[in-house]
Amino acid sequence: VTARLPAAQASREAWAEALDRLEECGALLAAHDGVGGVELRDPRTIDGPQQPELVVYTTPEALEAVTATVRATLDAFGLGGGDVTAAVRTDDDWRDNWKQFYRPIVLGDGALLLRPSWIPRAPDHPTREIVIDPGRAFGTGLHETTQLCLDRICALWRDGARPEAILDLGCGSGILALAAARLFEATAKIVAIDEDPEATATTMENALGNRLDARLHVRTGDIHDTADRFDLVLANIRANTLVARAGALFEATAHEGKLVLSGVLVEELDEVEAEFVRAGFVRDASALSWPRRKDIWVALDFVRPR
Ligand SMILES: C[S@@+](CC[C@H](N)C(=O)[O-])C[C@H]1O[C@@H](n2cnc3c(N)ncnc32)[C@H](O)[C@@H]1O
Repeated sequence: VTARLPAAQASREAWAEALDRLEECGALLAAHDGVGGVELRDPRTIDGPQQPELVVYTTPEALEAVTATVRATLDAFGLGGGDVTAAVRTDDDWRDNWKQFYRPIVLGDGALLLRPSWIPRAPDHPTREIVIDPGRAFGTGLHETTQLCLDRICALWRDGARPEAILDLGCGSGILALAAARLFEATAKIVAIDEDPEATATTMENALGNRLDARLHVRTGDIHDTADRFDLVLANIRANTLVARAGALFEATAHEGKLVLSGVLVEELDEVEAEFVRAGFVRDASALSWPRRKDIWVALDFVRPR
């Protein structure tokens, strides 16, 4: 169900105020029965909508009831002048959008909270948190490949790791770099790289929003755009991209540094392992299992030997 604010707002202040109210509607609706998630689309930060939109996700069976609830909620917030449209989507676009809807996630046995800005923290949530608005970039924290990386970051933190420099290659929304920055407070240098300028713009916004911008160096580009060495390298990208960069990732990893690869399908495991072993990496025996697996995805934990 998509709710659009009326286009005409008298002033910038009126616009911002209406957007705040739409955000509050989203928070209320997210907690409503039958609502799978909400997505606030702000034309100031993403391309596409001409006016602010609230997208409310539900199932076809609940569509009518949820549409009525959305209308009633907008009315209650004085936003009844906009249009509300309901549609059942089955295409790929819909699948991607669905991934963007979002709820708070507690990671690493209470080490860290991840939440979208429109859902407030609860009293029992962990105090360390990262607020992520993915915009159009990949990385809400809901995808298995992201979770495999986040699990490892939390485990290393619990084990007392103290990386001096961290690289997040293919940073998307910046979620991995920001989670690492929040947990590894002493890490001075965290580099986040993505080839997609929309992703790096989103990472920068999220870094600012979490007041971690001073420690995050965000670059649009590829692995070849850093000449530094890192004690922890995170790369959640598809296998063919990783395989083509095995040598460059080896060069970017410090002696005894760790490499976490995600984005690999179970059936791609052998090929990816062989290529990274050929590049000089060995399996990281400190990880819980080889490989770590969620659904059809695996993560590979390597060390660059001394
Ligand atoms: C699966 S997303 C991961 C996002 C985030 N790190 C996470 O874990 O949720 C992969 C990201 O890698 C980026 N990417 C793909 N190939 C790349 C390359 N060769 N160099 C840099 N970034 C790349 C994509 O633009 C995308 O944002």
